[in-house]
Formats: sequence, structure tokens, C-alpha cells
Amino acid sequence: MKRTRAVWRDFFELPLEVKQQYANSPSTYEGYGSRLGIEKGAILDWSDYFFLNYLPVTLRNQSKWPAQPVSCRELVAKYGAQVTKLCGRLLKAMSINLELKEDYLQNAFGGDEMGACLRANFYPKCPQPELTLGLSSHSDPGAITILLPDPDVAGLQVRKGGKWITVKPFPNAFIVNVGDQIQVLSNANYKSVEHRVIVNSEKDRVSLAFFYNPKSDLLIEPAKELVNEDRPALYKPMTYDEYRIYIRMNGPCGKTQIESMKSNR
Ligand code: OGA
Ligand code: NI
Repeated sequence: MKRTRAVWRDFFELPLEVKQQYANSPSTYEGYGSRLGIEKGAILDWSDYFFLNYLPVTLRNQSKWPAQPVSCRELVAKYGAQVTKLCGRLLKAMSINLELKEDYLQNAFGGDEMGACLRANFYPKCPQPELTLGLSSHSDPGAITILLPDPDVAGLQVRKGGKWITVKPFPNAFIVNVGDQIQVLSNANYKSVEHRVIVNSEKDRVSLAFFYNPKSDLLIEPAKELVNEDRPALYKPMTYDEYRIYIRMNGPCGKTQIESMKSNR
């Protein structure tokens, strides 16, 4: 965990010309990007990121991952394998909590064909942190997210009721976010967490978000076992591909996207 985070910090500290060789493609989002200074007058997030596909293996293109630092590709591959296993175990625990068979969630999301991607985030220190956010309020669109935060700098905030609560970094611990697709499948027995990142005037911050997502062309809908007369299905069936298009069109905007998916029953 430490080495993988360190390798990304080293990547973000490379000269801009080197990082720009990995500039992301607007269609796939893969590669290095920054939303700073794109549009005059727009309020943009104070962060750089690197986005890559990890699963399915057919979408994994290691030649697009950073060649520098030299250990980056190998470490990311190893890190991804371990975190994928952890995601599988968490989905089992969550299935059991919902009184479903332990493989229920994983199977409903595509079994061995689930998707995964990694977003390495870099939040530079900001001279006037009260004027911007590192990452605007959103919920993660997929199933679950395993976040490796920076142990030295707090930044992540979660919304509880009407209040933003800063999550204290805890050494060697992951933060697990419930994503929108678990909310749909569990018929809102689990709720995705609304979160955002604030910036710091003293220190920059590195975090790794590993997203575990449904197979993209599978219809995701509330589990039949969790639907009854008292609690009808709250969401209509939709593929993750369709949901992602919708999300990307609108950009981060709290939990309004998943809320607007509620069927009118
Ligand atoms: C994300 C995210 C939080 C953080 O990348 O979706 O919420 O602490 N990151 O960087
Ligand atoms: Ni997030």
C-alpha cells in the first residue's frame, strides 16, 4: 500500500512535459488529466489525476500506464490483484448482511467479469483553500470503492445528514465507499455515500481510489428478494454503461444523479 502510493506521488512530481505524454483521451478518460484552468470562469476542482482500466483484462492496457517511475506498472498490477480480492470478500459480507446468498452481489454484478479501474488523485496545496474544492461533492457510480487516503493530510469529507464530516486518516487503513450500484441492487437498504475533498494550504495530498464496477452491459436492478408490497422496487433496470454516460454528461453533483433514477412508483 505504501509503495504503491509512493510511486504515484513520484509520478505526480515529474515535470509536466513528462506527465503530458499520458494526457487522457476525452472518450475513455484513461491517462493523466487535470481540470485546472480548462475553462475561463468555471469553478474547477483543484486536482490532477491519472485514470486507468484494470478489469476486465481486455480493457487493461499497461502500455498506457506510467513507464516512470519504473516500478509503477508492476506495483499497480499487484495492488489491483489484492484489492480486487478484498472487494470480493466485502461483497460477500454485504450480501450476507442483506440476507442474500453470499455470492449474490458479485454474481448480480457479473461474477468474474466485473470491471475495475483506478484513479490516482493528486491535490496540490492551494494558497486559498476556501475558494475551491479538491473534488466536488459526488457519490461513486459503481459498486464499491476502496480508497487509500494520504496518512499525512486529511481531505476527504462525507455528508451525514446536513453536515460535512472530515474523515481522519488512519495509518494503513482503507476507506470503503458504498457506490450507487449497491444502492440500486439492495433497493436502498445500503445507501451510497456522498463525499467530497477539501484542499489544504500547507500540504499536497495523494490518494488512490479503486473502483469495483458491474460488468458494463448487464442490467442492474433491485434484488427480487428485497422487493415486496411494502417496499416496491425503487429503481428501474439500467446497465452500468447507460448510467455512466448519464453521470459523465452531468459531472459531479452530489447524489442528485442516483436520486433522479428513482422510478415513479
Ligand atoms: C474519488 C474520490 C476521494 C479522495 O476519486 O472518487 O472520492 O480522498 N476520492 O481522494
Ligand atoms: Ni469518490
